Amino acid sequence: MLQGKRILIGIGGGIAAYKVCEVVSTLAKAGAEVRVILTHGAQQFVAPLTFATLSRHPAYTDQSFWQATHPRPLHIELGEWAEVFLIAPLTANTLGKLAHGLADNLLTNTVLASVCPILLAPAMNTDMWEQQAVQRNWQQVQTDLRYHTLSPGKGLLACDRVGAGRMAEPPEILAHLESLLHSPQRDLVGLHVLISAGGTREYLDPVRFIGNPSTGKMGVALARAAVHRGAAVTLVHAPIASLPQGVRLVPVENAAAMQQALETYFLEADWTVMAAAVADVRPATYSAEKLPKRSLPPQLDLAPVPDIVAGLRGLKQPHQKLIGFAAQTGDILEPALDKLRRKGLDAIVANPIDQPDSGFGGDRNQAIFLSHDGQQRAIAPCSKLEMAHHLYNFIRLLKS
Ligand code: C5P
Repeated sequence: MLQGKRILIGIGGGIAAYKVCEVVSTLAKAGAEVRVILTHGAQQFVAPLTFATLSRHPAYTDQSFWQATHPRPLHIELGEWAEVFLIAPLTANTLGKLAHGLADNLLTNTVLASVCPILLAPAMNTDMWEQQAVQRNWQQVQTDLRYHTLSPGKGLLACDRVGAGRMAEPPEILAHLESLLHSPQRDLVGLHVLISAGGTREYLDPVRFIGNPSTGKMGVALARAAVHRGAAVTLVHAPIASLPQGVRLVPVENAAAMQQALETYFLEADWTVMAAAVADVRPATYSAEKLPKRSLPPQLDLAPVPDIVAGLRGLKQPHQKLIGFAAQTGDILEPALDKLRRKGLDAIVANPIDQPDSGFGGDRNQAIFLSHDGQQRAIAPCSKLEMAHHLYNFIRLLKS
């Protein structure tokens, strides 16, 4: 997906600049063409040589801006070249300039000389971030459809304060860049997408459970892709290692809790995507105390867990869309078609879990999308984020 993509990165003067080294390195390793602009302040934190080495291309500074060696003005060249533009860390100063259309260095001139989507990842001290003027500028840039934003998180800052101001982590930045390359429009604004993710756990006692190898990565990719395209997202998730930003998170463990949470949020959802791998059975009894090894039964009595999708199907209104996943081995098509009809879904994602490049745990997936009105779309192996975008494109075209 990133192979050959032209990604321009503007670095501002903040300590979070060191984290952008990882972003540049990851993009370059994935085959993207990366060009880096450093402001004067950025160079106090990280040297141009660092970015030149990581991006395999000279890095640009204001010194390059004023050199007469370029055949065309550098900001015009770079602005026309970029397919997507990241500014990270975005300082209060650069934000102020963007909000007012000012341009007094290479970075801000290149912003005005480009038309591609721009992703902004601010980082600053909490008091700076919370200043009325800074917040006003932040609101202002968001009225411009070119700007896509990754709000800073809360945590320990380099100034030893704990508060808002931490730059989004590199995986969040990388995922958002990938989304912008795939789908730069905010075409899901106004939609609420409800997503279930991860493998549920049915406990026998406080330490033993029936579960499955789902890591929730597909559900997280679905959540990120929807947020990047402007949707409001609720993610009801079984235990997952790495959670997305900008999403309402509802943690659960077993199928009953997942059902309760999904039914709570279902009525306000336009689209519900059931990516969770729900354990189909639970131990018939639960012991609140850890069972000693010698008391473990030689055989386990099992009971079924609720069919969550079936419950949601009963609540579904005509404007709502309900999408399931069918993780299959062997023939994926027939069992998925059967589930699509039996569960009354609008669409299903038939997902081979016995193929390389797909299934549990990995970063890639392949699938066939099937709709209730007979449409089929095969998706070749791609990143889970790209798969999520393909699925939303498919859902958008579904008739009720
Ligand atoms: O496990 P199975 O392949 O039947 O799952 C098909 C779809 O049904 C998935 O979207 C899954 O999240 C959902 N499901 C459910 N409740 C269950 C089992 C599966 O909602 N008890």
